[in-house]
Amino acid sequence: MEVLLNNGVTMPTPGFGTGAIRGWQADNQAVAEVITEAIQLGYRHLDTASIYGNERSVGRAIKLAEVPRDQLFVVTKAWNTEHGYDRILHAFDNSQRRLDLEYVDLYLLHWPVPTLIQESWRAMERLLTEQRVRAIGVSNYRIGDLRCLLERAEVVPACNQIELHPYFTQPDIRAFCAGQGVHIVSYSPLGTGSWSGVPNELKPVTDPLVIQVAKRHKVAPAQVILRWNLQHGWVPIPKSEHPERMAQNLDLDGFTLSDTELSMLDELETGTGFNMDPERAIEANMTMSVPD
Ligand code: A2P
Repeated sequence: MEVLLNNGVTMPTPGFGTGAIRGWQADNQAVAEVITEAIQLGYRHLDTASIYGNERSVGRAIKLAEVPRDQLFVVTKAWNTEHGYDRILHAFDNSQRRLDLEYVDLYLLHWPVPTLIQESWRAMERLLTEQRVRAIGVSNYRIGDLRCLLERAEVVPACNQIELHPYFTQPDIRAFCAGQGVHIVSYSPLGTGSWSGVPNELKPVTDPLVIQVAKRHKVAPAQVILRWNLQHGWVPIPKSEHPERMAQNLDLDGFTLSDTELSMLDELETGTGFNMDPERAIEANMTMSVPD
């Protein structure tokens, strides 16, 4: 399945999240093999970032999988320490070298760096003009960050990748993005990875309503959450290291949630996410540097 972005480029959905596969910033043959497995199972959209420290493994996995490059959709992101006009261009050179790809499908500003939004975006637009990327977008952007970006932008971001799951649906930012034609990509769609330390019983995959809906459709709770994303038009990027879960997370076509089920799932909203909010993340992220 695919969605159409605002510049005519199509994005396969769901995507495959690659953050912290086989450990935070692990970049080795084992990581490449997990990602190759994902491609062989049918994922065509791979989501990485310079800060994940695994771009080489993503590139290696693509070569190992032997799927034609134009059938894959590869996303990477510039970290906070890489923002600013020259820094973005340099960061992209580095990501492209590590991925060893001729082009990247979607390049994102990973978090807002409020003082550098407009000049960073100008560099993103240059990468697009030079056809080194097929689409550009943002991640973790709040309404104010997007307004600031749009004041000077020539290109409207293709997407805003945000934390989104049934406990945290970010309706205000979604409504703003919808009004501007900015697609929503949901990260931590199942309620965040094991690395986060969040106990399973607090995640939406163990929510009684999600389990009840899953039983009704004879599917797994994760499939209910991912199908809820697809029916809303959001692109989820679940991560798993286990082939049976990877396959399960792709197998979403055999059932449809009713409007009532969608609304009941929407009502699980708590207003609180599992990840750091942008306000705190902006400073904290500056202390983390991108490995090469
Ligand atoms: P694992 O990698 O051991 O499969 P998110 O993508 O929302 O951040 O969630 C990732 C977490 O959810 C990982 O800990 C992953 O574990 C787990 N996970 C992925 N797919 C499923 C699934 N189908 N059912 C239950 N848990 C899953």
